Amino acid sequence: MASREQFSSRSGFIMAAAGSAIGLGNIWGFPTQTANNGGAAFVMVYLVLAFLLAYPALMAELIIGRHARANMVTSLRSISTGPLSRLLGTGIGFYGVMTASLILSFYAIVSGWIIGHFGDALLTTLGMPDAGHTLSDDSNFNSNFLGLIVFMCLTMSIIASGVTDGIEKWSSRLMPMLLLLLTLLIGYVLTQDGASDGLQAYLIPDFSDINPDLVVSAMGQAFFSMSLGVGAMLVYGSYLSDQESLPKIGATVTLVDAGIAILAGLLIIPAIYVAAHNGQLEIIDGQVQGGPGLIFGVLPALFSSMGAIGSVVALVFFALLTIAALTSSISMLEVPVSLATEETPASRKTATLIIGTLITAFATVILLNMGTLFDFIINLTTVYSQPLLGVALCIFVGWVWHRNDLLTSMQAGSDGIENTLFWTIWPLYVQYLCPALILLAFYQSLQ
Ligand code: TRP
Repeated sequence: MASREQFSSRSGFIMAAAGSAIGLGNIWGFPTQTANNGGAAFVMVYLVLAFLLAYPALMAELIIGRHARANMVTSLRSISTGPLSRLLGTGIGFYGVMTASLILSFYAIVSGWIIGHFGDALLTTLGMPDAGHTLSDDSNFNSNFLGLIVFMCLTMSIIASGVTDGIEKWSSRLMPMLLLLLTLLIGYVLTQDGASDGLQAYLIPDFSDINPDLVVSAMGQAFFSMSLGVGAMLVYGSYLSDQESLPKIGATVTLVDAGIAILAGLLIIPAIYVAAHNGQLEIIDGQVQGGPGLIFGVLPALFSSMGAIGSVVALVFFALLTIAALTSSISMLEVPVSLATEETPASRKTATLIIGTLITAFATVILLNMGTLFDFIINLTTVYSQPLLGVALCIFVGWVWHRNDLLTSMQAGSDGIENTLFWTIWPLYVQYLCPALILLAFYQSLQ
């Protein structure tokens, strides 16, 4: 067997893992949820849950992956301790792989819309606004299909190139560009009339906004945003060297992911208030009237109100969003592709082509049945499957895996970890508290 690929450097891994975490969940999902859930209060609850729940769950995935050095199915099998837990591990692994593939199928549709808006901005800048508007018309099947195909081809071509030449190289190039573009846009938006009201709503919390629904939304948002439950982080962990300290790397990824979400909010929330100031939408009692249509409705309107420069700003913004989506989608596709290359004779290129085509075909089925399938698949995967898989992974680490093996894996790359709080608390935390808290929030969401 050929030797297994590894990330060539710590920063390469951090870029890739942060690239997986940072995506439409941060730039579209987080600001939208913040706007719909009372602003700053949501931001605070989100930050608490990201560190209290998502960070420990991320550690579980990274530690399993790096120890077992394999895809989710093979990893869970290899740390199981008897025929029953092996069967359970196999089941959970396949559930994770299916969930990752389904998430990619709707994620690619949304990303296709973003590519459509990018094409619109490009053609408009080149003086062909009518052709452009057709591309961004999300009720037009041909435009949706074109966006989907372009996005899936980009995703597949990166994954076909492997870990260092594909995932690591592209994430390391694209992520810093994203940060730069985001900062420039924030600078621009903050000079506009109305932006200061947005800053206020975003930064000054009203604690009376906090309720169980808000907590459940924040938890789901944190799990989605950190790519948890489906083995994406587990597989990335399997390409990480034993020299690296997992708790530190995991904390860095958590911080960077939360930081980009906060930055995206700093762009989008003031932009909403600028749009309100210009009479393009309404804010009643601090609640934005518009909801999920935010990016696809409000922002293009905002850009077009900027005059000639607007289509250039739109071009930059949708390029930024495409980049963020791409470094996330590659982590989803790597989940089934790593399973196929490790458990079948298929080469990476063949596996990528076959699996990518299947996912694109399924996404096309969703596109043809938007009304019935789109929200259904999103709820099935992100609302139900991700938290359940998170619980399953915590249980595997806490209850199935031999404690000595777990502790030895934690020590790799982390000298002196035995004297830290992480060492004392984390194993018990994922064994008891994490699953209990996730199940509690999950139970509440079903009420
Ligand atoms: N975290 C990414 C985002 O915020 C999306 C993502 C990438 C993801 N890989 C995942 C979500 C795996 C769930 C599972 O957009």
